[in-house]
Amino acid sequence: KITGTGFYAPDKVLTNFDLEKMVDTSDEWILARTGIRERRIGSEDQATSDLAVQAAHNTLKNAGLKVKDIDLIIVATSTPDTIFPSTACWVQSKLGADHIPAFDVSAGCTGFIYGMILAEGLILNGTNKRILLIGSEFLTKIVNWKDRNTCVLFGDGAGAAAVASEGPGGELGGWHWGSDGELGELLMMPAGGSRMPASEESVRKDLHTVQMEGREIFRYAVRAMRDSCLLALKEDGTEKKDVDLLISHQANTRIIDATARALELVPEQVFVNIHKYGNTSAASIPIAMDEALRDGLLEPPKNVVLAAFGAGLTWAGIVVKWR
Ligand code: UT7
Repeated sequence: KITGTGFYAPDKVLTNFDLEKMVDTSDEWILARTGIRERRIGSEDQATSDLAVQAAHNTLKNAGLKVKDIDLIIVATSTPDTIFPSTACWVQSKLGADHIPAFDVSAGCTGFIYGMILAEGLILNGTNKRILLIGSEFLTKIVNWKDRNTCVLFGDGAGAAAVASEGPGGELGGWHWGSDGELGELLMMPAGGSRMPASEESVRKDLHTVQMEGREIFRYAVRAMRDSCLLALKEDGTEKKDVDLLISHQANTRIIDATARALELVPEQVFVNIHKYGNTSAASIPIAMDEALRDGLLEPPKNVVLAAFGAGLTWAGIVVKWR
């Protein structure tokens, strides 16, 4: 069960109008093509783990837990503090969580749902009792601020959930997950790993930044999210007509709308906060989930579908029932 959620978004806001002064773009284009009005930017002295720790504290407070109550930390991120050690270990240290295991999940924007499926399995097989699952991203440190195709899309933030075997909250239900590595090059950061270690040339060519074939990704995202949601519902034994709310990865309102249409949902049944935060990758679902909770949209009983799509390519859908 998800027994508590929380998030942290840096204070600094970068609006579409600010971006108009940086690249050849317009508020009109960004809003119409993506739904984004503004995004948050972390500060230079912060790293992904710092955002994660703030989200962790808020989540533990909301779940009525102390750091000592958790027995595993999972961080979903594509923007780790360091390639190694994992961001989860930096978080473990900053939280002062006494020698509990900690590791990262790398599944792009789908990372948080992958982490949920993993957490559910670990709890069901008795390995863990209370897991702190965090999605945290510092995307503005890896975007190319000269590339209007990508720099307008992303923002920084972190969201988290306490996942436990019992307690009030959202019960994890049917799910579906998938990947297609054949399409990995459509969305990647090419340099900085073992395939292309950092060099003067890699830096000069901006290869340590996000490279994305937006139009291709869009097509796959619509299809994969639809299929994952429908398969998760089937696995759960829940019909489309019984879905109360869709909380989708916030990458583009047009992708969210297409997923909502596939589930035959009306706009009031679709949670959207992309206008405030942009695409925060693995952090987008937990941030949205916490805001939906605070807006009263998860008052029980509610059948909620979470859906995501991202680098890998990866995708997943999961049914969560607030009872
Ligand atoms: O979260 C992980 C997964 N990522 C996604 O799901 C992202 C999926 N993709 C998308 O959301 C959309 O493809 C984008 C928002 C990235 C782009 O929207 P689009 O409707 O697919 O636009 P496009 O790439 O087809 O570009 C249309 C036009 C192009 O101009 P021409 O070639 O038609 O003259 C672009 O150069 O818009 C131009 N353009 C811009 N214009 C103003 C691209 N970026 C901008 C911009 N401002 N920022």
